[in-house]
Amino acid sequence: MAYTLLFLFFLLLQSLDLAAMAATLRPNFYSETCPQAESIVKDVMKKAMIREPRSIASVMRLQFHDCFVNGCDASLLLDDTPNMLGEKLALSNIDSLRSYEVVDEVKEALEKACPGVVSCADLLVMAARDAVVLSGGPYWEVKLGRLDSLTASQEDSNQIMPSPRSNATYLIDLFSRFNLSVQDLVALSGSHSIGKGRCFSIVFRLYNQSGSGLPDPAIEPAFREKLDKLCPLGGDGNVTGDLDATPEIFDNQYFKDLVNGRGFLNSDQTLFTYPLTREYVIEFSENQEKFFQAFAEGMIKMGDLQSGRPGETRRDCRVVNRHRPGVEVLFETSNEKE
Ligand code: HEM
Ligand SMILES: *[C@@H]1O[C@H](CO)[C@@H](O)[C@H](O)[C@H]1NC(C)=O
Ligand SMILES: *[C@@H]1O[C@H](CO)[C@@H](O)[C@H](O)[C@H]1NC(C)=O
Ligand SMILES: *[C@@H]1O[C@H](CO)[C@@H](O)[C@H](O)[C@H]1NC(C)=O
Ligand SMILES: *[C@@H]1O[C@H](CO)[C@@H](O)[C@H](O)[C@H]1NC(C)=O
Repeated sequence: MAYTLLFLFFLLLQSLDLAAMAATLRPNFYSETCPQAESIVKDVMKKAMIREPRSIASVMRLQFHDCFVNGCDASLLLDDTPNMLGEKLALSNIDSLRSYEVVDEVKEALEKACPGVVSCADLLVMAARDAVVLSGGPYWEVKLGRLDSLTASQEDSNQIMPSPRSNATYLIDLFSRFNLSVQDLVALSGSHSIGKGRCFSIVFRLYNQSGSGLPDPAIEPAFREKLDKLCPLGGDGNVTGDLDATPEIFDNQYFKDLVNGRGFLNSDQTLFTYPLTREYVIEFSENQEKFFQAFAEGMIKMGDLQSGRPGETRRDCRVVNRHRPGVEVLFETSNEKE
């Protein structure tokens, strides 16, 4: 009996697949265990795009909000539990992050083909790449092999994720804490080439920039008139506007817009106002290939962020696998058997 228990305990440890060290990420990580993984993700993303073009931008954004908070570990995707305030309701995420159901759909398809193999953290990284490709942006090879976290932290997300009010100095400093360069910051902000933002995120710059009682002077007047109509003072903060002039196409229009004072968010326009970031904005506005290359580089670097904490491969991206309190479950089972 003692041996049986020991053996079962060993099996349990194996099945948990808990790894305390940072995983070594590499391309083709699933080439043996789930060779269809990448094509499955792409197919579901393509269907999502046809159903609602914005949804793939929304899914792409998830990689940023996941990777900056304790590494790319799908902590973002965990629903709140009675014991854990997750990241979905954090300041930058509540009423803002969306299309979690697309992630669920991708995960379901992956689980059907290769049960328990592909992590939710890798799913997000593949899906973000596919969102860019499907919108006309660059392709890059993704490194895989991440584990999913066992927990999430609303507090960490609140501490880390930048506000749309951020200025370039603050963003440069924030990104440098993740070893991301000024070029990475500007290129990755180019993700705002697709998708939408809420009036809630821009009313301060339309009517009371830095507490001045005046609009942000960096906004081009005709564009400001348009935004004022979309987002009147005291209006519905959930109304959305396009982040650039071509919100379904991943291109360098975003940077052309910044040069013309037509950035949607303060955190966007500030990249043109501030000299250090401005040179990259101008370069990317004139050379789409340079933007694409820098963007892919930045996404790969951001995808490398890891916490080094224990992890697992979640079966359902919204909840951790049911193995805690695992030992009790194990002993119950073994007692029944003997
Ligand atoms: C540089 C700092 C960044 C700030 C301050 C920022 C902030 C924001 C804000 C405020 C919104 C609109 C949210 C709303 O109004 O509900 C937004 C949307 C978006 N962000 Fe960022 N972001 C940043 C960087 C990034 C990065 C690095 C990525 C991805 C690589 C990204 C991807 C997106 C996408 C795709 C959308 C549109 C989502 C949709 O349509 O649902 N952002 N961001
Ligand atoms: C940028 O933002 C930071 C943090 O909010 C603030 O302390 C700083 O004064 C701002 N810098 C400029 C030049 O506005
Ligand atoms: C940044 O790079 C340094 C030196 O390579 C490394 O020690 C540190 O862990 C990195 N930080 C992050 C957040 O990846
Ligand atoms: C503008 O912001 C400042 C500082 O946050 C605040 O004191 C002031 O009441 C605001 N003005 C308006 C018109 O909302
Ligand atoms: C947006 O809608 C949500 C849910 O309907 C609501 O709880 C929230 O207060 C609204 N936010 C703003 C800024 O109006």
